[in-house]
Amino acid sequence: MAARGPAPSLGRAHPVIATITLNPSLDEWMQLSSLRVGRLNRATGFARYPGGKGINVSRVVHELGGHTVAFGLAGGDDGLILRELMNRLALPHRFIPVAGSTRNNYKILTDDPAGLTEINTAGPVVSRRVLAALQRTVLTHRPAPAAVVLSGSLPPGAPVHVYQRWIRLLQARDIPTVLDASGAALRHGLRAHPWCIKPNRDEAAEVLRTRLTTVTQCVHGMQRLLQMGPRIVMLSLGRDGALLGCAHTREVWQAVPPRIRARSAVGAGDSLIGGFLTGWVRGQPLQDAFRLGVASGTATAMTPGTELCHRADVMRMLRRVTIKRVA
Ligand SMILES: Nc1ncnc2c1ncn2[C@@H]1O[C@H](COP(=O)(O)OP(=O)(O)OP(=O)(O)O)[C@@H](O)[C@H]1O
Ligand SMILES: [Mg+2]
Repeated sequence: MAARGPAPSLGRAHPVIATITLNPSLDEWMQLSSLRVGRLNRATGFARYPGGKGINVSRVVHELGGHTVAFGLAGGDDGLILRELMNRLALPHRFIPVAGSTRNNYKILTDDPAGLTEINTAGPVVSRRVLAALQRTVLTHRPAPAAVVLSGSLPPGAPVHVYQRWIRLLQARDIPTVLDASGAALRHGLRAHPWCIKPNRDEAAEVLRTRLTTVTQCVHGMQRLLQMGPRIVMLSLGRDGALLGCAHTREVWQAVPPRIRARSAVGAGDSLIGGFLTGWVRGQPLQDAFRLGVASGTATAMTPGTELCHRADVMRMLRRVTIKRVA
């Protein structure tokens, strides 16, 4: 697979991978031996993380030694805490203030029964004025990003075609975009022909209105997705790894990760994107960048709860991911 598609990063000293998170959260993570409803429970562990799909991608890029900036919307006291947590992680960010408060997502990890209970609150309603301010901030950021990731659900108030508009504006400036969305946001976004999309099996099946059970069905689905305009499709398949299709070469490759003891795949898809782009902006061939992406997703699946990948695990997984051409 020789083609890399556009190569905007070449010649840049520090290519920056930008992410946009319209609906970030302050994730409140706690650990309990068991959760007794209607009773006093005592947590044995507590931690707070900045949450949201774009932020996860930025965290993975940063973990792998890449350069990133996280754009988004944040409001109220929790928005201030979100910014402070990003500062502590040394993650560059530009969050536009919104009226109302950034949402909280509670993640309760219990030993008995072993599992994760999640409670998500709704985010603030966003206005067109705020979205216009974010658009200006992204488009005028210098240095211009080498790629922009638009990912996650749309907050209340955001028009369904907002990703579509931003993809058009960014690509008109030769900035490749990666869209990771589902349902209507994905369908509308696809019309702007993003450089890359990263659906999982369910998201792709929904857009194509078909079943994607076998790898053969997925490869066929991948060809149909490529006909909708993106140059690259990464279709993630959980423990079966991922498929990568390239519109230029018409090749489809499958990356298969090693069998691991999966603890929590939350953020695995975001890690796949973060690892892939980190490799790609460094000038790696698509296949190598894809391998780094799948190794990052798998390394995230090895960590508990909402924890993301550790660099050392990614490097170990990298050697064990096998890549084969399937079409
Ligand atoms: N059980 C697992 N074992 C090994 N690797 C895994 C497992 N689950 C996920 N992965 C890795 O993570 C990548 C992305 O996973 P997945 O298809 O679950 O993404 P997703 O559904 O978009 O996740 P999310 O949106 O929660 O971030 C896979 O391509 C694979 O490399
Ligand atoms: Mg996903």
